[in-house]
Amino acid sequence: MSKQNTNAGMPIRLTLEPGTYFRCVCGRSQNLPFCDGGHSGTEHPLRFDITERREVYICSCGKSEKQPFCDESCGVSLP
Ligand code: FES
Repeated sequence: MSKQNTNAGMPIRLTLEPGTYFRCVCGRSQNLPFCDGGHSGTEHPLRFDITERREVYICSCGKSEKQPFCDESCGVSLP
């Protein structure tokens, strides 16, 4: 996995390998955008699967209807 953009409110572009991922939704993780298990007493993370290596855009604004992925509700045009 390569982290390329961590600006809050902007999509986070990552290249993910096949596997199961957990998107932090409580904000306590020290490994954002992913869960690190620090959510005790808060919302549980959002699980998602990647079936082949690909570039993804993770929503960080909270407006997307296609969580955990950006759907351009933030106003950013994805490539
Ligand atoms: S970052 Fe949330 S919709 Fe784009």
